Amino acid sequence: MLKFQHKKVKKLEQILSTLDIFEKPNIALEQYPTPPHIAAHMLHIMAENTGEVEERMVADLGCGCGTLSIAAAICGASMCVGFEIDANALEIAQRNKEDMELENIDFIQCDVQDLSESRWQKAFDTVILNPPFGTKSNKGIDMMFLKTALSLARHTVYSLHKSSTIEHIGKKAKQWNVKMEPLYEMVFNVNKSRKQHKSESRDFQVHLLRFTFPNVIKKS
Ligand SMILES: C[S@@+](CC[C@H](N)C(=O)[O-])C[C@H]1O[C@@H](n2cnc3c(N)ncnc32)[C@H](O)[C@@H]1O
Repeated sequence: MLKFQHKKVKKLEQILSTLDIFEKPNIALEQYPTPPHIAAHMLHIMAENTGEVEERMVADLGCGCGTLSIAAAICGASMCVGFEIDANALEIAQRNKEDMELENIDFIQCDVQDLSESRWQKAFDTVILNPPFGTKSNKGIDMMFLKTALSLARHTVYSLHKSSTIEHIGKKAKQWNVKMEPLYEMVFNVNKSRKQHKSESRDFQVHLLRFTFPNVIKKS
């Protein structure tokens, strides 16, 4: 069972809520920031329950304005590399990093799709991501992100997905010979900045999923 130190989660959430987020979100890129309470719970679970952040090399795929990278650095990652396609988002991420006075984060502009055949293969202990969920025009992008994350990670991938998609993801995980564990369910709020939604704010259920590779010797 997961353990939460509520004061620690709240403190991390408060820090993350001071970060700048997308000024003009690009709808086609599904630029909705990870809400601070979700990012704080994700990193707290990783840091306190499985110990897969501290002194680890961490990658953040589709890092946007850097929320998850910054949370990983605060939780003790030895290094975090955030990959993102959009230069405007990266400008904000860089600003957030500097405001937080964090040294151990790098941001790289690239298409995540190009990473699976790159020098970053198996370069990270842990990979985290809140991928685009895959709208009608972007169908399958969530699975492309996840597959790429698995190719970059030596030990573990933590990924956030709509709860309605976990059965499908579970089938894919079996095909790819990776173990999937649904860790924690949360409510994700997309607010009125997403102009295509008629309602001002929309809630949906998401699951934090953990993926590991059978037969990999665990880093002590
Ligand atoms: C749901 S947002 C998550 C943002 C960020 N991780 C956060 O926690 O706030 C998805 C991010 O993926 C980026 N993205 C979309 N397609 C991409 C691609 N092909 N390669 C790299 N980044 C991409 C978007 O620009 C956006 O910043």
